[in-house]
Amino acid sequence: MTADITGDSKVIITNQDGIHEKLDEVVIKHLSHAFQKPYQAHTELAFKEMDTLVRKFLAAKPDGDIILDACCGVGQSTRILAAQNPQALVIGVDKSDHRITKNIEGFSSQDGYQADNYHLVRADLNDFYRLVKAANWPVSKHYILYPNPWPKSKHLQRRWHGSAVFPQMTSIGKSLILRSNWRLYLQEFQQAAKQVNLVGCIEKVRKTTSPLTPFEAKYQVSGQVCWQLILRQSCQTI
Ligand SMILES: C[S@@+](CC[C@H](N)C(=O)[O-])C[C@H]1O[C@@H](n2cnc3c(N)ncnc32)[C@H](O)[C@@H]1O
Repeated sequence: MTADITGDSKVIITNQDGIHEKLDEVVIKHLSHAFQKPYQAHTELAFKEMDTLVRKFLAAKPDGDIILDACCGVGQSTRILAAQNPQALVIGVDKSDHRITKNIEGFSSQDGYQADNYHLVRADLNDFYRLVKAANWPVSKHYILYPNPWPKSKHLQRRWHGSAVFPQMTSIGKSLILRSNWRLYLQEFQQAAKQVNLVGCIEKVRKTTSPLTPFEAKYQVSGQVCWQLILRQSCQTI
């Protein structure tokens, strides 16, 4: 998927007419079986580098914020979040080397962009999430902006809420912020999240002149509604 910012982004087409009938079953299966696939070497190495930075950051600022920007693509959101949260260390993760190394307009010092409190790293989140969980990073906000939707019914397990890493991914961050142009994706995630005591509402993303990501820009230019789900622990578990 690429994010050329033209006004012709296609609306999601799915053969589902509502929440996937197997969603609860799949989530329960993943919650009751440990995900034991070995880590890929490149992600283990990338994690080690980030873990060193996180430890250093926390040694200097024990109450400092760690913000995780998962599926960050070209890292536009990572850079924006870093500028908006100068006290935080922001880590953007994407499996595509091509994306995270891409130069993006508007974020050089000539453009007035100053923040240096962020890092972009190439890693597979199926492994990276498990490593973050095991290392117990104190993540404050965990963003997943415009994940690949996999709208065909048979691809439920490729969506993050249908993946084997769902238990670990949802345990990272005091809040989990997802955005998508496919409302049903967020409705499914919201339903799956109840199984791990996370609750939250879906609302429209307000259209601004500075979208958080290239995909958001593309959908907005096409006149599509972007949706946001913010999840936090439900009161019973606090
Ligand atoms: C639709 S793009 C959205 C990118 C960006 N957040 C945006 O809104 O412009 C989804 C991104 O998720 C990344 N991705 C998908 N599966 C991943 C995985 N297992 N680990 C890391 N990144 C992944 C892809 O490489 C891609 O850049």
